[in-house]
Amino acid sequence: MWLWISLVLVLQYSKTVLSDSNYLIGMGSYDITGPAADVNMMGYANTEQIASGIHFRLRARSFIVAEPQGKRVVFVNLDACMASQLVTIKVLERLKARYGNLYTEQNVAISGIHTHAGPGGYLQYVVYIVTSLGFVRQSFDALVDGIEKSIVQAHENLQPGSIFVNKGELLDAGVNRSPSAYLNNPASERSKYTYNVDKEMTLLKFVDDQWGPVGSFNWFATHGTSMSRTNSLISGDNKGAAARFMEDWFEQNSAKSDELGTDEIPRRVSSIISSIHNNHHELLELASSFQSSPGKPATRVSSAARRVRSALRQADKPGFVSAFCQTNCGDVSPNVLGAFCIDTGVPCDFNHSTCGGKNELCYGRGPGYPDEFESTRIIGERQFNKAVDLFNTASEQLKGKVDYCHSYVDFSQLEVTIPKEGGASEVVKTCPAAMGFAFAAGTTDGPGAFDFKQGDDKGNPFWRLVRNLLKTPDKKQVECHSPKPILLDTGEMKQPYDWADWNHLTRGFL
Ligand SMILES: *[C@@H]1O[C@H](CO)[C@@H](O)[C@H](O)[C@H]1NC(C)=O
Repeated sequence: MWLWISLVLVLQYSKTVLSDSNYLIGMGSYDITGPAADVNMMGYANTEQIASGIHFRLRARSFIVAEPQGKRVVFVNLDACMASQLVTIKVLERLKARYGNLYTEQNVAISGIHTHAGPGGYLQYVVYIVTSLGFVRQSFDALVDGIEKSIVQAHENLQPGSIFVNKGELLDAGVNRSPSAYLNNPASERSKYTYNVDKEMTLLKFVDDQWGPVGSFNWFATHGTSMSRTNSLISGDNKGAAARFMEDWFEQNSAKSDELGTDEIPRRVSSIISSIHNNHHELLELASSFQSSPGKPATRVSSAARRVRSALRQADKPGFVSAFCQTNCGDVSPNVLGAFCIDTGVPCDFNHSTCGGKNELCYGRGPGYPDEFESTRIIGERQFNKAVDLFNTASEQLKGKVDYCHSYVDFSQLEVTIPKEGGASEVVKTCPAAMGFAFAAGTTDGPGAFDFKQGDDKGNPFWRLVRNLLKTPDKKQVECHSPKPILLDTGEMKQPYDWADWNHLTRGFL
């Protein structure tokens, strides 16, 4: 019934400087891949999209920030289509059994990257599990176990450290997939923005006092739909790929700097060599043409004891965790080349995303078109490159107290104040959620079946009949949603149990 809004990780800016490392920070990461065969995939609501293997594995990545002797927050990013209230409840139960009241619904936020290529069936509301033919225990358990273990890891890794924030624009990893609908916004509002989608990436960088950088996460809006609705391999899509690229990048970089470390035994050069080389002079000249490296301070002594200690320390070193989180991606598509008709190859109808009046033929194209693996890699790499750039240049340190706030809001009867011309205002009320006919049209990232059209404000008699067999919306509900015609009155459907949690379904799918 209730949409929960969680604004965890409110790291308030303030003038008080605690110390260089003002927080305890801890990172964790654990596998959540789940069943890789015979399970419907979450996202496209396509009953025929059944998992049959793995493109790459999925992970839960956890970040804990605590004030010594003070409050703490947990943020978990899942390589999953979305978080689930039921999963969260179970995870909180497990955390309570381990840690008492340290981690509760108040200070634990779990988010999903919106990949459309992960196993489904782990949410409790009917709407989300229709195509998976109900609840899938294996999907659910893999998520709960993996999230719990990643939080435990982060908890056990807590060390003094500091956090830096950085922001920047990434222009080529997302486009508006409903540009005609966007034009329905008042010109005065549109003029406030440079683009018709949000292009900003915000990154947090975590630096351990002892080990240096240990992780980062960022928010950037683009759908997890580089992999198509016919793909059957489990994948973290572009954001899961970006996370892997960044973690690999960091490990490779630190491995390289370790090799050059002063602990290494210098290579001995045989004195025979100079005598067999007659071009000694030329080689010297060539060598002098290279710029010398700045080198490393020579204060550390190289001893066997130190090398052993160093190897042990290396084993303690926390793994680098990098998460690519989802944010306001509502209409942002990674299929940046635009939407085209698969029969003729011409761009789809601008206002309805149709081809010759047909919805099923219109598909968005990623930058690797026609190879969706390549599109996933490219969009992942673009986010990865931007994140590395922001990571390397992050200099603004977060200071102040850790706090969080969590509240339940009933979106089915919310009062909203709308400003009117001449300074006056009007108070209006929301109503229970409902899906319009246009919802079933899907989007250009994955068109729905059965001739539904985007931008439909009339509906169709056949589907209206089907709808009425399930639940006929009353006059009040119809008027409240007008001019959007109601296909499924999900907010008022309770049989055999609740169809919706209001969360996803209040978005305006007109
Ligand atoms: C889309 O709809 C608008 C408003 O009805 C109309 O002015 C415009 O010409 C249409 N564009 C196309 C390409 O059909």
